[in-house]
Amino acid sequence: MHTTGMTGPRGVWWKPAHASEKVWFTIAFVWCMILFAMMPLWHLRGGQNPSGIRAKVDPDAYRARVSQFIQDYQIGTDNNLPVVAPPPGSDVYLQGQMWAWIPVLQLEEGVEYTLHLSSVDMNHGFNLYPFNINFQVVPGYDYGLRVTPTEAGDFRIVCNEFCGVGHHLMVGKIVVVPRRSAGASSPAPALGGGQ
Ligand code: CUA
Repeated sequence: MHTTGMTGPRGVWWKPAHASEKVWFTIAFVWCMILFAMMPLWHLRGGQNPSGIRAKVDPDAYRARVSQFIQDYQIGTDNNLPVVAPPPGSDVYLQGQMWAWIPVLQLEEGVEYTLHLSSVDMNHGFNLYPFNINFQVVPGYDYGLRVTPTEAGDFRIVCNEFCGVGHHLMVGKIVVVPRRSAGASSPAPALGGGQ
């Protein structure tokens, strides 16, 4: 009679696990449990977690907010894109769209800003180059990140979420300038000097 699933094979067809197999299984299981426990730990204690707000926003309303932001604080243009220098510590707005990041942001070093990210068409990926900082930029959601630029310089925002034929061209810019007021407590000089 041949063996089928209905009639089991005769005799002891399996071998009990060897001691070393049990050891390795135990090590793997314990490691799984450690990684499992680290998931909530990372969430609660991880320094890499973004701090900020999340809110729903209508894409058109976001586009209007960005236009207002540009109108309020534009200082020039760079490759036909507006360059915006918002007041230190304010809310700054970045709009992802096919295939640009609008506007170019000029921020001051060592000052905390709330960086709002949203898209007006489809999913984009905010990747701050050369740092490994990545965020999803999703239409309908305003993602407000508390960020403090720690280094002066020119930084690129690369889209890392495929968004169509112009995806590879979707590069934005953040310029970080040294703090304008030298002392933390000295107020910025008033424009015009009262003349
Ligand atoms: Cu935007 Cu890829």
